[in-house]
Amino acid sequence: MKVLLLENIHAVGHALLEAEGFEVERADGALKEEELVARIGDFDLVGIRSKTKITPRVLEAAKRLIGVGAFCIGTNQIALSAAVKRGVCVFNAPFSNTRSVAELVLAEIVMLSRQLGDRSREVHAGAWKKVATGSHEVRGKTLGIVGYGHIGTQVGLLAEFFGMRVVYFDVAARLPLGNVKSEATLEKVLEQSDFVTLHVPETPQTQGMMGEKQLQAMKKGSCLLNLSRGTVVDLDALASALKTGHLAGAAVDVYPEEPEGNVSSGFKSPLQGLANVVLTPHIGGSTLEAQEAIGREVATTLVRFVRSGASSGSVNFPQVELGPTPGTARVVHVHQNVPGVLRDVNRIVSDQGANIHAQVLSTSADIGYLIMDLDQPVGAAVCDAMRKLPTTLSARAL
Ligand code: NAI
Repeated sequence: MKVLLLENIHAVGHALLEAEGFEVERADGALKEEELVARIGDFDLVGIRSKTKITPRVLEAAKRLIGVGAFCIGTNQIALSAAVKRGVCVFNAPFSNTRSVAELVLAEIVMLSRQLGDRSREVHAGAWKKVATGSHEVRGKTLGIVGYGHIGTQVGLLAEFFGMRVVYFDVAARLPLGNVKSEATLEKVLEQSDFVTLHVPETPQTQGMMGEKQLQAMKKGSCLLNLSRGTVVDLDALASALKTGHLAGAAVDVYPEEPEGNVSSGFKSPLQGLANVVLTPHIGGSTLEAQEAIGREVATTLVRFVRSGASSGSVNFPQVELGPTPGTARVVHVHQNVPGVLRDVNRIVSDQGANIHAQVLSTSADIGYLIMDLDQPVGAAVCDAMRKLPTTLSARAL
């Protein structure tokens, strides 16, 4: 296996791939489309972060490629449906920075309760304003979580350690952890919470879900935190609610438009300069621990995919996993999702005089993904024959 690792992927991921005997080449920066097209043809796996674009042209040139590891959360930089049509499985690391985001949320709840951003700025500027007015403990206060998924649940647990009362709203049925209480509507959460924290994905339903009406439905003197996606909150409406004093503070980490890279000036937001507003540059998940966890998680997933064919956790393949059966030959097969493929595959296996010991197939709209254990060492011959089928996208003997 030859692996190309780009964009300074954490050393732990590199080491895990080398420990498997994979040949790893790395480059610290992202590669442009031209450069990638010229290089990718030699590699079975490629590891990227958010800046390298895996376009249909790159995939066209990637004759040996079986998997892409996105050592990050988002996968917008990858042409996922073109990848699936070429039988290339894409993985990311959706949970590795969950804890980092949750810790920042808790820190910011305390910051907002104590107006810490403003006090710190004043002392830096030479002022001394020792006041208790508007400063509160968080113990006994109500935290409302909107989106009780990976991050929301962690936030809820940590907030309870602080002695907060926690309620949440989620569109899906979720098991409440600890003493956290589920509410049937967003409005129920907004009307009772001293702090509202958003942890929803970016979808058509969440776009602008915190507009003027919802902000007005929040308790007077409460605070809003958004460390989810920038499009979820109407920032002009939030700025008005802060200026009128309806809200006592806000912490915002994500914006409708964010600079592509770091800039030392020029970033604009309607929230700049407002009292008790903590603004951060999308750093919720940016810790060294999260980077290391991402390196480990994605490299481990790629190794499992190469060794066992497991596609669990993939963002573009049907999820298939089959436990090992000693003494069998494993074959994995990606094919167009059309009738008759299994019949052809089974005929090929029986032509080789082998029996299928175990077989797992799952399909999506475009493809079928099959893992199969054969009782004879005929994997290579079976794959050769499968590659001749017009419906085959890729076949691999493990
Ligand atoms: P998740 O998918 O585990 O949880 C999201 C939850 O929101 C799910 O339970 C889902 O059912 C719920 N949901 C979806 N639509 C909803 C709606 N309209 N109303 C209420 N609930 C709704 O996602 P996870 O990992 O907890 O991430 C949450 C957000 O945090 C995502 O937007 C992600 O992009 C963002 N994020 C931000 C980071 C940062 O650096 N600031 C780092 C990591 C994630």
